Amino acid sequence: MIPIKNPEAIKRMRESCAIAATVLARLKEQVRPGITTYDLDQIGRDLIASFGARSACHGYQLHSRRYPAYTCLSVNDEVVHGIGSLKRILRDGDIISLDVVVEYNGYIGDNAMTVPVGATAPRTTELLKVTEEALYLGIKQAVVGNRIGDISHTVQTYVEARGFGIVREMVGHGVGREMHEEPQIPNFGRRNTGEKIKPGMTLAIEPMVNLGGYQVRTLADGWTVVTTDGSPSAHFEHTVLTADSGPEILTIPRAS
Ligand code: MF3
Ligand code: CO
Repeated sequence: MIPIKNPEAIKRMRESCAIAATVLARLKEQVRPGITTYDLDQIGRDLIASFGARSACHGYQLHSRRYPAYTCLSVNDEVVHGIGSLKRILRDGDIISLDVVVEYNGYIGDNAMTVPVGATAPRTTELLKVTEEALYLGIKQAVVGNRIGDISHTVQTYVEARGFGIVREMVGHGVGREMHEEPQIPNFGRRNTGEKIKPGMTLAIEPMVNLGGYQVRTLADGWTVVTTDGSPSAHFEHTVLTADSGPEILTIPRAS
């Protein structure tokens, strides 16, 4: 069953998502050559705490392992779930994916973006642009009456037409009281398949796109997912409410 959020749940989702987005926006401002991903994670931890929220990543359990960091910070060929490290110093020309998931008042907001560190190679710059555009095209499909496969198909065809690889092993998801609720939202698939979109769903739509092949593998730390061919990878994500009036992005930063 796909949870449908009542007005009270939606109100709380708005709050947690606004916090997640504000933390992400401020974390992005800290990205620069010379900073370590450990320092970025500590900044993320402090930002989350400053809103009275909790990292939904820290302690998150997957196959009997608990995620040790507060945010997910994935550099270059790292796709998702990179763990901040003092050894990882950002350099000019790198890209870094920032993924912030917070819980506030019992509800979870989830969002991510990939940002360049200084100047990146032209094809890498294009990778970020195409991944973000694919997210927004996918969101446009999150319309009441459509099916999940309409999101999946739109993302896949846009990305593949531009010569990039769409990751298959990780997918978007419903989000609410839990970080991962039904439905799964693959970034590949066929139109008019999957669950029907109804009013009051909150969906985390999140294309992960590789500059090269779509294949990925997980490092020995049990978390960090990297591209098999070593090519860079990008990740953009929003939490979206499927309102009667159309899709509404909930992960919008608060004006400061
Ligand atoms: N946005 C990621 C997801 O939807 C966040 C994962 S947090 C982790 O799966 F704890 F699993 F690392
Ligand atoms: Co997510």
